[in-house]
Amino acid sequence: MTKPEPHILVIFGASGDLTKRKLIPALYELFRQNLLPERFAVLGVSRSEIGDEIFREKMMEFLPDPSQNSAQASEFLDSLFYQTTETSVAADYPKLKQRLESLGNDLAIPANYIFYLSTPPIMYEVIPQILAETGLNDISKGFKRIIIEKPFGTDLASARELNRKLLSFYTEEQLYRIDHYLGKETVQNMLVTRFSNGIFEPIWNQNFIHHVEITSSETLGVEDRGGYYDHSGALRDMVQNHLMQLVGMIAMEPPVVIEANAIRNEMLKVFQSMRPIREEDVPKQVFRGQYTSSHIGNEPVKGYREENGVGPQSKTETYVALKFFIDNFRWAGVPFYIRTGKKLPTRVTEVVIYFKTTPHHLFEYNSDSEPINNQLVLRIQPDEGVLLKLGMKVPGAGFRVQNMNMDFHYDQLSNKYLPSAYSRLLLDCMHGDATLYSRSDAVERAWEYVQPILDAWKNNPDIPIYGYPAGTWGPEVVDQLIADSFWRKPCKNLAHDGEYCEL
Ligand code: BG6
Repeated sequence: MTKPEPHILVIFGASGDLTKRKLIPALYELFRQNLLPERFAVLGVSRSEIGDEIFREKMMEFLPDPSQNSAQASEFLDSLFYQTTETSVAADYPKLKQRLESLGNDLAIPANYIFYLSTPPIMYEVIPQILAETGLNDISKGFKRIIIEKPFGTDLASARELNRKLLSFYTEEQLYRIDHYLGKETVQNMLVTRFSNGIFEPIWNQNFIHHVEITSSETLGVEDRGGYYDHSGALRDMVQNHLMQLVGMIAMEPPVVIEANAIRNEMLKVFQSMRPIREEDVPKQVFRGQYTSSHIGNEPVKGYREENGVGPQSKTETYVALKFFIDNFRWAGVPFYIRTGKKLPTRVTEVVIYFKTTPHHLFEYNSDSEPINNQLVLRIQPDEGVLLKLGMKVPGAGFRVQNMNMDFHYDQLSNKYLPSAYSRLLLDCMHGDATLYSRSDAVERAWEYVQPILDAWKNNPDIPIYGYPAGTWGPEVVDQLIADSFWRKPCKNLAHDGEYCEL
């Protein structure tokens, strides 16, 4: 693979959590794979008054354990630099510009810069604007790209405004909106599963598919993010972005080529075809819940309202489940279900395709009298893999049918290197490939879709928010959403499901 052009990666918010937990380890991973450019530097930027050496020491702690003091680690750390900057003060930026120029001179790196905004969202308009006013959006001597973390706005109006502002200083091609779900190997594998196997596409439509279920459950609660989460909630935090991206991958038409705009056009068409949920239908199609205190094992667990940073009367949802339709030729009439929540029994993200049953039922079935729908489970995490549930004959007399699993687990590919989502996405941006980043029109369209739900909750405080004890599968009422089937109860192990799996 050719290496990206030499450049400097500027990380705003260099002392923050994301930089330590995700970005530095991801860059180190790229370094070890020999995928970084021949000439490359990281310039950490934040308010703390520290120098290059202290920054390197701090970052060393976040490299994987055994390598912390190795020669390889110190070679990597030598490419890290630091510049103290008050990022909301324009007068501080000329110093930043000079530092970039002097680093560029010392290391023979042209004026190619990637600016990563690992900052609170309030800075997403401020920093790009000041960078532009300081001339740091000038592409005459090298590329300038901006990576922005979610949330891209907090509702439709703010998302539009953010896009408008950014697009007044930069072109769409310079903007990389990161959704780390698209960086997951298993999410990308959905496209490969669908479009590289002749057996799936002919049946991937309303003639053969009964319904589609998307689950993203977490065992963790809001931890120390109560302040942020209480203004967000599960719909904004997970559905508007990560889970809509999964819907796009599952439902899109085959792109003409594997290239940024071709794929992003197809994703957008899916979002455009999702039947809007009218405000008056929200109580029937969207259920929200909030975890309450309980015991998991023998341990007492706090309820959401007792978490730090959360109001004692908070009505923020930590769980949401919804039913919707995609009105196009492929999906007409097929219900899609999404559920996501915190403090559920297992951490699992997966898509389950339920196929229709055979038109005529010949056999006796083991557990109940009805044949089940064949299921294709695309497991995103953990125990990444693919599972197909099939009916097979029970050995012996008669023709009794039992459900069996055929499963593939990624860890069977023992010597294959699975890059982390952040390293894949960073590398793509370094190459100027925006395929796995969200385009402004798709982001706005996703907000357009969830906005009536947010409005309904805001305008009708009587719409219930159901409590569910921490450690359970969410509010019981959610079973009503799926009229003629059941939610799968996934376990950590892909091939297991049911009420009682290992926590
Ligand atoms: C983040 C959300 O975007 O995604 C978190 O803000 C959530 O609340 C996380 O926990 C889930 O990501 P993953 O990769 O652990 O599924």
